[in-house]
Amino acid sequence: MATAKIAIVFYSRNGNTEKLAEAIAEGAREEGAEVALRRVKEIVSEEVIAHVPGWKESAERMAAKYEAPTTDDLVSADAVIFGTPTRFGNVSSELKAFIDSLGGLWAKGALNGKAGGVFVSTSTPHGGNESTILSAYNFLAHLGFIIVPTGYTDPALFAGGTPYGASSVSGGGSDQAPTEIDLAVARVQGRRTAQVAKALKQAN
Ligand SMILES: Cc1cc2nc3c(=O)[nH]c(=O)nc-3n(C[C@H](O)[C@H](O)[C@H](O)COP(=O)(O)O)c2cc1C
Repeated sequence: MATAKIAIVFYSRNGNTEKLAEAIAEGAREEGAEVALRRVKEIVSEEVIAHVPGWKESAERMAAKYEAPTTDDLVSADAVIFGTPTRFGNVSSELKAFIDSLGGLWAKGALNGKAGGVFVSTSTPHGGNESTILSAYNFLAHLGFIIVPTGYTDPALFAGGTPYGASSVSGGGSDQAPTEIDLAVARVQGRRTAQVAKALKQAN
């Protein structure tokens, strides 16, 4: 039986997207997948980071816990799931900067046929969770991924998340977020992506 390798590549400033990433990893591992959790690097100066309360501490904590993604992480993965906080209804520049470094892989078609997905954290209920995921679908298509949405494949999707990918609403403070339902949807995304990745691997 083939084991799928899943790379979860995310940006998180305050830890909400990170919690979804961990739940997706849990779901993927339930399907026997080997998971690499990777947080993309900060792209703004230390001076800017220092101006926002908590950003420096949070960035240092996550940098110590997660390696930054490399192109090798993507090439060796059977599936890549990208996570981002929303920024004005769109993908964060930190994740986008990493995506924009993948031209070499795009030119070689190195990611063609891998399973791919997206998850997101917003601050408000309609603050761009779906638009952010759909925006990210653009780069997944260009890079040749087979997009794996969450759909309504599990009862949890009728209570939370989106049919495009897991999401959570942080509401400005991270105490109550993500909810148990948000985390359940994230685990569904991990399981489902791992199932598809395994099937694609067996078919090739
Ligand atoms: C510059 C900027 C733009 C943002 N734009 C939105 C937005 O359009 N909609 C929204 O709901 N939240 C927005 N947010 C809030 C974050 O997306 C939200 O707090 C998210 O949960 C943070 O995830 P993290 O804890 O993983 O960093 C924005 C935050 C920043 C700093």
